[in-house]
Amino acid sequence: KRPVGAPDKGLARPVTKVGVVGAGLMAGQMALLFARRLHVPVVLTDIDQTRLDKGVGYVHGEVDKLLGKGRVSPDEANRLKALVTGSLDKAAFADADFVIEAVFEDLGVKQQVFAELEQHVSAECVLATNTSSLSITEMASKLAHPERVVGFHFFNPVAVMPLLEIVRADQTDDATLATAFATGKQLKKSSVLVKDAPSFVVNRLLTRFMGEVLKSVDEGTPFDVADKATEPLGLPMSPLILLQLVGSAVALHVSETMHAAYPDRFSVSENMKAFVAAGKTAVWQWDAQGNQTVDPEVAELWK
Ligand code: 3HC
Repeated sequence: KRPVGAPDKGLARPVTKVGVVGAGLMAGQMALLFARRLHVPVVLTDIDQTRLDKGVGYVHGEVDKLLGKGRVSPDEANRLKALVTGSLDKAAFADADFVIEAVFEDLGVKQQVFAELEQHVSAECVLATNTSSLSITEMASKLAHPERVVGFHFFNPVAVMPLLEIVRADQTDDATLATAFATGKQLKKSSVLVKDAPSFVVNRLLTRFMGEVLKSVDEGTPFDVADKATEPLGLPMSPLILLQLVGSAVALHVSETMHAAYPDRFSVSENMKAFVAAGKTAVWQWDAQGNQTVDPEVAELWK
């Protein structure tokens, strides 16, 4: 069944090589998924060799974990490792059909990445973005071929979370959108077409929810009570653990984007800002016996 809003799949272009810009955690997870499900070469790039090596190393480490669990055969593991490579030179993307960026969440940085990519890829190569909150229409606006830009928003952990938000910019053409849906299907994701609105749909709901959890702590509810209080909702993990999984800086950035777009509906916790400024990533810490306690430095700064 065709997902709501998806164009005729006959318009989709084949994807025979994938590029991933940024070699951080989401990028590495995406690179592995593309190699595993599309069986095509995947090239990662980043701004320096250290980041790049770390990204490719992460993918190879994840392949070893799959091998250890018997999820892939030794041959498949070797094949996957060979498919995922790194290059500092975007010329390596010259014959890519689908390039996705997962760099720092800043509109200007992402526009610059796309402008640079246009110098190397064909006019039909899809330029996808994994942004979690920024406008796809604005991201495309400076390009010679904005019609091949599309939002392709995964959730962490990429290998496990079934949903994929596909975002159509004002300029996106049907062939690009059809290619995005066909690729989502090959990745075995459940794709939905969402509006190009701040934070799309999932992060908008999540940010409001997390914002209320943090506000309750700001008001004096203890961390453990705030976490436990969400149990009746049946979520797979508590909000403060999820904050750690998503990344505190990413979560703060999304809440700031939402506050700027809808100041009456979204607030940003000052304590959360202090938490991120202090370089903290987790509220909880665990001792050798597995007992969970609040990091005392976090308790101290969350006034
Ligand atoms: N990377 C890869 N695989 C992972 C993983 C990770 N970070 N974390 C867990 N997994 C895999 C495990 O290896 C395991 O796979 P297996 O069945 O092949 O062994 C499987 O997931 C289940 O893991 P576990 O048995 O260890 O643990 P759980 O059953 O408790 O599941 C969870 C872990 C999938 C993370 C689950 O707790 C969950 O779904 N949590 C909610 C996550 C969520 O809400 N994500 C969305 C965040 S918002 C976002 O990403 C948007 C962004 O823009 C901010």
